[in-house]
Amino acid sequence: MSLLSPQLIETGDLTIATLTGSRQERLFHAIRDKIVGSLWPMGGKLPSTRKLADELSLSRNTVTAAYEQLVAEGYIESRLGSGFYVSVDLPEHYLTAQPPRADRKPPAAAQALDLNAPFAPGVPDLAAFPAAKWQSLLQRHAGRQSLMGNQDLQGLAVLRQALSDYLATSRSVHCNPDRIIITAGAQQALSLALLATLRRDDRILMEQPGYTQMRKIIDWQGYQLQALSIQPYQGLDVHAVLSSESEALYLTPSNQYPMGTTLNTEQRLKLIDWAVQGKRWIIEDDYDSEFQFAHRPYTCLQGLAGQMGCDDQILYVGSFSKVMFNSLRLGYLVVPESLVERCLMIKDALTGDTQAHTQAALADFIQEGDLLRHIRKMRRLYKDKHHLMLDAISRFFGDQVEVISQPAGLHITLRWQGGISEDDWAQQAEAAGIMLRPMSYYEHPAHRTRDWQGAVLGFGNVASDAIDPLIARLATLFHRQL
Ligand SMILES: Cc1ncc(COP(=O)(O)O)c(C=O)c1O
Repeated sequence: MSLLSPQLIETGDLTIATLTGSRQERLFHAIRDKIVGSLWPMGGKLPSTRKLADELSLSRNTVTAAYEQLVAEGYIESRLGSGFYVSVDLPEHYLTAQPPRADRKPPAAAQALDLNAPFAPGVPDLAAFPAAKWQSLLQRHAGRQSLMGNQDLQGLAVLRQALSDYLATSRSVHCNPDRIIITAGAQQALSLALLATLRRDDRILMEQPGYTQMRKIIDWQGYQLQALSIQPYQGLDVHAVLSSESEALYLTPSNQYPMGTTLNTEQRLKLIDWAVQGKRWIIEDDYDSEFQFAHRPYTCLQGLAGQMGCDDQILYVGSFSKVMFNSLRLGYLVVPESLVERCLMIKDALTGDTQAHTQAALADFIQEGDLLRHIRKMRRLYKDKHHLMLDAISRFFGDQVEVISQPAGLHITLRWQGGISEDDWAQQAEAAGIMLRPMSYYEHPAHRTRDWQGAVLGFGNVASDAIDPLIARLATLFHRQL
């Protein structure tokens, strides 16, 4: 301890006005920020509680309580009969860090905001969801003791039965409840599918551009990604698959994500034959199959194969994120009987069972016809929004951008040549509070071959009357660069 008189801390710029919480909390944070930001030196003497209370027009009790908390957390120390002193000496590398600003949002909150910004891809119309009905279903099951203990790893039987009926009638999936595994979103279903079928270093064909989360799991697990280049309007090159020796193929055949192409029945049959003859796996992610606006959706590969009695090589993946809402985090995997046990063993090791009350509510939502009603209503709504998007894009951009995605799903995919780069446009849009996903987001850097710029605009959660002004704003940013 220094024998020299301690440096008196200057508190003239201390303010609690911009912070939130009680006065005591705000004062605690204001002082802590000064100390952590190294603006108040180690050993510096704080003003007495009475003096600071006068300076800040606070009660003395408030200041005393804030000081006590600072003492308790070790930021300052109390020396008997002498006063309070800064007792934190931060290591050098903290001293160069930016002092935290009172108004800076915590990273998690900032991220949540961005994820749901206008045009964020993959967010359905949340305002149109029948929330009151859903709430009553949750309440119906909330107090059920039988749902509180450990549950069936595979998912509630009642949900698997409801889902099996729904998938058979609406998507012609060839299944029964014993072949369905309820998962935490399609993402968990995809992880299980990979882990159950492939070994490290096995090859898997995947569309490029394609679903980024799937690419991450493939890389993470050490499988070899073999890129299948998706060209605008043409979609997947089936011949490239037929000549491949890969152990597996992952695809989004209903509405290729994000290029918005689809595979016809003839192409689907060829892929099934490739898998069956070579004993290879197909992981079918039936993404966006519910929202086709121009034609009836094609029968899924799994269902086609099932009709021919050869669906042993196909794993079918679906999600409730787009037909209900994202944070529900429920999806499913339909597997050949031979894989059920293995998938359950893996699910057991990874996460154990799935939250039961929401499963029970979902089973009722399906059985009582609410899911189908909601999907029908949303199909009409998204079709209208899609039309509004096309109309606005054509008025504000003319022929400077081209819509390459089919009329389906919750997003529109654009391409253009010359003018602003997709990354610059995305950055400028973000600064304006709009999410514009550049095409590069969906590509593995090692497999980038495009000579055009592209971006994805999700319109699911954008109100119909907001489409025009938002597209106009994007067009202003785009044209600034021409
Ligand atoms: C291609 C694709 N598959 C599946 C999903 C759904 O995943 P989850 O059910 O985990 O939300 C998404 C979500 O964006 C997707 O883009």
